[in-house]
Amino acid sequence: MSIKVVVGAQWGDEGKGKMVDLLSENADLVVRFQGGDNAGHTVMNDDGTFKQHIIPCGIFRKDCVNLIGTGTAVNPDVLLGEIRTLQAAGISTENLRLSESAQLVMPYHVTLDECMEETGGIGTTRRGIGQAYADKFLRKNLRAGDLKKTDTLKAILDDNLPFINAQLGYFGLPAVNSAELLEKCLEWGRRLSPMLCNGFELIHSYIDAGKNILFEGQLGVMKDIDLGIYPYVTASHPVAAYAAVSSGFPAAKIDEITGVVKAFSSAIGDGPFPTEMNLEESAVLRGSGAHPDDEYGATTGRARRIGWLDLAVLKYAHAVNGFTELALTKLDKLDTLQTIKIATAYLVDGQAITGMPDTDELYRLEPVYESFDGWLQDTSSCMDFESLPENAKKYIVFIENRVGIPIRYIGTGPSRKNIILVK
Ligand code: GDP
Ligand code: IMO
Ligand code: MG
Repeated sequence: MSIKVVVGAQWGDEGKGKMVDLLSENADLVVRFQGGDNAGHTVMNDDGTFKQHIIPCGIFRKDCVNLIGTGTAVNPDVLLGEIRTLQAAGISTENLRLSESAQLVMPYHVTLDECMEETGGIGTTRRGIGQAYADKFLRKNLRAGDLKKTDTLKAILDDNLPFINAQLGYFGLPAVNSAELLEKCLEWGRRLSPMLCNGFELIHSYIDAGKNILFEGQLGVMKDIDLGIYPYVTASHPVAAYAAVSSGFPAAKIDEITGVVKAFSSAIGDGPFPTEMNLEESAVLRGSGAHPDDEYGATTGRARRIGWLDLAVLKYAHAVNGFTELALTKLDKLDTLQTIKIATAYLVDGQAITGMPDTDELYRLEPVYESFDGWLQDTSSCMDFESLPENAKKYIVFIENRVGIPIRYIGTGPSRKNIILVK
């Protein structure tokens, strides 16, 4: 038996979807454990190219059960749409389960997220994620299991809608039509009922049976609500221990934690980004958007901000998560660069600092860079570490040594098969 957690080690979009699709080969159960459809997890395999927003990336494995876990925030319309997309592509969703305790994203959460962004937000994905989690913490939100219970639905909506309507009114919008919303909820309930389950019991039954469980994280540590660049963060915990916390098992049971690291950095949304390149410098890495692996948001289509790899971020991510291995993705995207830089330290007022400074300080600091000669060769056809160009090996070994964690996977292209397994 093993419990493995895959998390982003940077600012999101590191290639978690590709890694979960790959690693789910050996999993009996894959669990998306936090976040909602703010995620865009790209999978390219023999079935096609898919951008998963809420359904776990183990869904392409026929013998693997996929659970949308208790720690998530689920928009039922998005979930049903994603099921339709997969089914249209011939992918079975028979093994999909939804925890009854997962929080729901309601249409009014999306509307309020949009309103707040229009009037000075933080660059969210406008998917209502923060608003749904806010209602969770106010203990006024609907959960997936409530969709089956007319009386509970009514009671929760009656309790919460006055507050929601006051917020909508603040933005000059009409109140929610509660009768219509109740009908919508009941219809979602009818459609989602077959996949509803007790997430805690399902996970524990797999643990007790000694099966392999793979947890799929969303986003990355720098956007964690407590540990990231507050307030430019998401509303959940994209860190490994939260897989255990949200599922209800001891964190010490986690055997392996895979930190997914892009070979450079990217971020979307507002906030500090110390190693950010200017537009000209970043053009090659960003691409035009014509390819599925160009740097445009898989959910919003926004151009991603691009930066050099940042060791302070990786070390912080390791301190928070406790990685047992790293997956370095998108090495191939550096193939054409003459010189590649890695930030090895931060200076504040000329003084080197250790650790991860707070948000305001991140704006002020200056990264110290080490430069590497590029390899100017195609790596996409390399099948093992030995066949990589010498300068690429140097780049990889440098990262591995500085973080102190083995790089077990090296991504050399977007597809499931573009991966080097390092022995
Ligand atoms: P996620 O949110 O962490 O799952 O990552 P995204 O799917 O949002 O963004 C990662 C992008 O990089 C996607 O377009 C992937 O198809 C692509 N990708 C992942 N690994 C590799 C790799 O090793 N090489 C290349 N060229 N693209 C990759
Ligand atoms: P994956 O799982 C990159 C960012 C938003 C914004 C902040 C808060 O594909 O890596 P939210 O909508 O969560 O309230 O927005 O977080 N963000 C992401 N950035 N990848 C994601 O997901 C993201 N999910 C949210 O841009 O800065
Ligand atoms: Mg993404």
